Amino acid sequence: MEDGLALHHIGVRFGGLTALDDVSLRVAPGEVVGVIGPNGAGKTTLFNVVCGFVTPHTGTLTLDGRPLRPRPHRLTRLGIARTLQGTGLFAGLTVLENVMAGASHTARTGLLPALLGLPRSDRDERRLRRHAHAVLDELGIAAHAGAAPGTLPFAVRQRVALARALAARPRLLLLDEPAGGLGAEDVDGLAELIRGLPHRATDPCAVLLVEHHMDLVMAVCDRIVVLDFGRVVAAGPPEAVREEPAVVDAYLGAAVDEAAA
Ligand SMILES: Nc1ncnc2c1ncn2[C@@H]1O[C@H](COP(=O)(O)OP(=O)(O)OP(=O)(O)O)[C@@H](O)[C@H]1O
Ligand SMILES: [Mg+2]
Repeated sequence: MEDGLALHHIGVRFGGLTALDDVSLRVAPGEVVGVIGPNGAGKTTLFNVVCGFVTPHTGTLTLDGRPLRPRPHRLTRLGIARTLQGTGLFAGLTVLENVMAGASHTARTGLLPALLGLPRSDRDERRLRRHAHAVLDELGIAAHAGAAPGTLPFAVRQRVALARALAARPRLLLLDEPAGGLGAEDVDGLAELIRGLPHRATDPCAVLLVEHHMDLVMAVCDRIVVLDFGRVVAAGPPEAVREEPAVVDAYLGAAVDEAAA
């Protein structure tokens, strides 16, 4: 049996444009797998296929060898969590409540009744609260538990979003451009954090990291898949991928385009 998430020959078209063409990849338990590529290469489209926002025209997905038809609202129950570009936190809730919301599917009664002041199990509530605190602590942001997300620096909000995803106890975490908007120092901290996720003492999770930031991907991934114009142009461990002429071309091409823009 094939453990973990696998994409088999995925193809996505938007009208006449081929966004993904025959893309296959696998994320096994214990792994951090990166997807890189220049602007428009198809990274976000691939992320959206795994989240169920985009339905592929061709190809299949499997989770632990079983057919997977992802739907955004069912991901958590499949053991998959994600963060999105931007943090998407609830502005009206505290940091702790945001993280509790991430785990609320594990409670017998939902978080919504609690927020509406309806009766619910105290034990569930305490358990959720303790778990959310533990995750905030692990990410080094427990001091901000009572704060409103809007009052916090971007790098902290980013961690809160990560904590909310982890609170759901995923076996697989999907990250789209987590380094977007972070300074060099924060990227280093994030790299360390991501590298540790498959080796957490409780709830270890594999990671699929979609990222434009080449240095971060090189630093944290066990394996990298390089997309260009929707196709896989290279795949393998970072040290091998770095040497691939197709990667150098794709990235030098992108760098020249950006310099010209
Ligand atoms: N909903 C959509 N409708 C039409 N075209 C789309 C749609 N989403 C993406 N595309 C196109 O598909 C291609 C791949 O886009 P995608 O956003 O996946 O690239 P990306 O690698 O994430 O780029 P970036 O680095 O800029 O985030 C691009 O040409 C894009 O314009
Ligand atoms: Mg993108």
